[in-house]
Amino acid sequence: MPSDNPSRPGPAAVLCGLAGWVPPRVVTNDDLATRLDTDDRWIRTRTGIRRRHIVEAGQATSDLAVEAGRRALRSSGSESADAVIVTTTTPDRPCPATAPVVATRLGLTGAAAFDVGAVCTGFVYGLATAAGLIATGVARRVLLIGADTYSTIVDPLDRTNAIIFGDGAGAVVLRAGEAGEPGAVGHFDLGSDGAHEDLITVAAGGSRQRSAGSEPTHAERHFAMRGKEVYRHAVTRMAASARTTLERAGRKIDEIDHFVPHQANLRILHSVADDLGLPRERCVAHLDAVGNTGAASIPLALADAVAQERIRPGDRLLLTAFGGGLTWGSCLMTSPSLTAQPQPERTRP
Ligand code: UT7
Repeated sequence: MPSDNPSRPGPAAVLCGLAGWVPPRVVTNDDLATRLDTDDRWIRTRTGIRRRHIVEAGQATSDLAVEAGRRALRSSGSESADAVIVTTTTPDRPCPATAPVVATRLGLTGAAAFDVGAVCTGFVYGLATAAGLIATGVARRVLLIGADTYSTIVDPLDRTNAIIFGDGAGAVVLRAGEAGEPGAVGHFDLGSDGAHEDLITVAAGGSRQRSAGSEPTHAERHFAMRGKEVYRHAVTRMAASARTTLERAGRKIDEIDHFVPHQANLRILHSVADDLGLPRERCVAHLDAVGNTGAASIPLALADAVAQERIRPGDRLLLTAFGGGLTWGSCLMTSPSLTAQPQPERTRP
């Protein structure tokens, strides 16, 4: 029987805490239709989304990250961590990183703390980074938080993007353990293709625009996505990454109990599942209730499925993500015994 975890020099990373948090304010498709030329039916049939949660004025990504992080630590049975990773496309500010202030607000001053930027693939990149910290002995317990507030970068009058994204945070705690344990994070595939950097962008605010010295336009200050092209890349890259990961682990798709993809668009998730030959019922979909929450989407979907007791201890999970960059990645793992967190109930319609 092949192992889900490659042989490594140090300990394996084992998931031992999980939680999600979304801001209380709900925006339904009908709410959006009052200010945009759209309707509930178009949004539901094109994306699978019914509603999303949006931050209040003044609320930032770190506020959501702290809420999710606190709950994940609690669910792990210990408030401690010696590294905190925040993965986000919407940091509180361009400088400094968001992770140090999150760590301090969680009582973890002194812990290693840094951000990982891989857009919607951030959580899978963050898992690999956390596994590396644990394998090399740099950390024994890592708090990894995917948090995004896309409502702060999407133009509220851009009907194509405003309907897709929601705000939220999801967090996991990883501890040093054994490769065979339930919860062990296993084989990975990570990749990128910068030739398509212009498919998903916020053009202004970085060194490219600032060094040019020009005032950014309204469009340059907001999130832009070439949706149709992104859609095609997402289906192809996610399916390929999932396959590569399965091959590395010596596993077949029918050994996967739950496919937990980045919650981009329900049609994308179903196309990837079909391409892999995976029954759609095994695809965890949570975006109806929260939309596409960027780096938060996989841990939020996981937390929801665990809270609904859909994912059970020992189940084999395949996580796959795709995002701007372009970036993509997958991770195989087994589910540990976790305490269901109350927050995901709030995210159900
Ligand atoms: O998380 C990172 C990765 N992101 C993704 O994976 C997103 C990938 N892309 C998508 O999910 C889809 O491309 C969208 C949901 C963004 C758009 O769906 P689509 O089926 O590709 O629509 P489209 O952009 O081709 O637009 C089709 C039509 C257009 O009208 P015409 O030109 O055919 O007359 C749009 O103007 O739908 C129109 N449209 C809308 N109509 C009502 C676009 N947005 C809306 C809207 N409501 N909100």
